[in-house]
Amino acid sequence: MNLSIKIGKLRMQNPVMVASGTFGYGVEYAQLLDLNQLGAVVVKGICLNPVRGNPTPRTVEVASGLINAIGLQGPGVDGFIKKYWPFLKRLKVPTIINIWGTTVEEYAEVARRFDALGGVGALELNVSCPNIKEGGSQFGTDVKLLAQVVAACRKATQLPLITKMSPNVVSIAPYARAAADAGSDALAVTNSYPAMAIDIETRKPKLANVTGGLTGPCIKPIAIKLVWDAAQAVKIPIIGMGGIQSAADAIEFMMAGATAVAVGTANFYEPQTALQVIAGIREFMEKHGLKAVKEIIGTVAVKK
Ligand SMILES: Cc1cc2nc3c(=O)[nH]c(=O)nc-3n(C[C@H](O)[C@H](O)[C@H](O)COP(=O)(O)O)c2cc1C
Repeated sequence: MNLSIKIGKLRMQNPVMVASGTFGYGVEYAQLLDLNQLGAVVVKGICLNPVRGNPTPRTVEVASGLINAIGLQGPGVDGFIKKYWPFLKRLKVPTIINIWGTTVEEYAEVARRFDALGGVGALELNVSCPNIKEGGSQFGTDVKLLAQVVAACRKATQLPLITKMSPNVVSIAPYARAAADAGSDALAVTNSYPAMAIDIETRKPKLANVTGGLTGPCIKPIAIKLVWDAAQAVKIPIIGMGGIQSAADAIEFMMAGATAVAVGTANFYEPQTALQVIAGIREFMEKHGLKAVKEIIGTVAVKK
């Protein structure tokens, strides 16, 4: 059975990766599962300089989901290269680096730095973070700015570029087309949904940041719809994510049009989820007599 897929020129042994921000920098999970069995490791978002993130509490559990407001804490490009790259570069599977900036120029500079590093699998542009006041959401929810960011990164690097889409738009199609036209090799759909939770006894928001991003099983059906919409709009591959906790969830995303998938919030309560998803996809292929995982992509039976 052939589980391999391609994202731009990046070849992956299977279509299952882990979602940025839910898997640290890989090393934190190394004792909990064999990282070399994944399709790719995607690391927490990195910008040019170190970021402390938001005050705590920064996560709160809700029905079938999690709201987080980490605030893009990270070591910056140099800190990442010094502390985490020596471990990641020795893995047999590709590392995808999630990057962000507060200006178009910063995105491009971060892309340039990682291009120069050598050995990086791909860059994922986080244009859709709802948690910070500057940068983030305005890039992903403004078609012109989105195109500028992608084009600037395209100029800065030969690495495969994945644009991580914001779900916070009325229709994803024009954003998907703008990213593809500006040179993105793939789209990641989707980031978290803006959300809030309140402690009714203290009347205080449950997050110090007041609001955060909702993820986990509760967002799955809306994420599937977004993947479906994006797949109608562009020909480039889509990496589907949002609440995946089983192979059945992953296959649903692939049938909606995703070439690959990412496991996010589930890593927090079952670190083996991604490996279970890979095993379950194999079983599904066996059961249905499929030779290549690609035979699943976009096969939802919808009359057009
Ligand atoms: C705690 C936490 C931190 C995250 N940090 C990032 C990040 O740095 N960059 C990014 O693009 N997405 C980030 N995400 C979003 C995830 O990568 C993913 O898109 C989202 O969680 C949906 O998948 P899930 O429902 O399987 O978790 C984060 C999500 C969580 C829960």
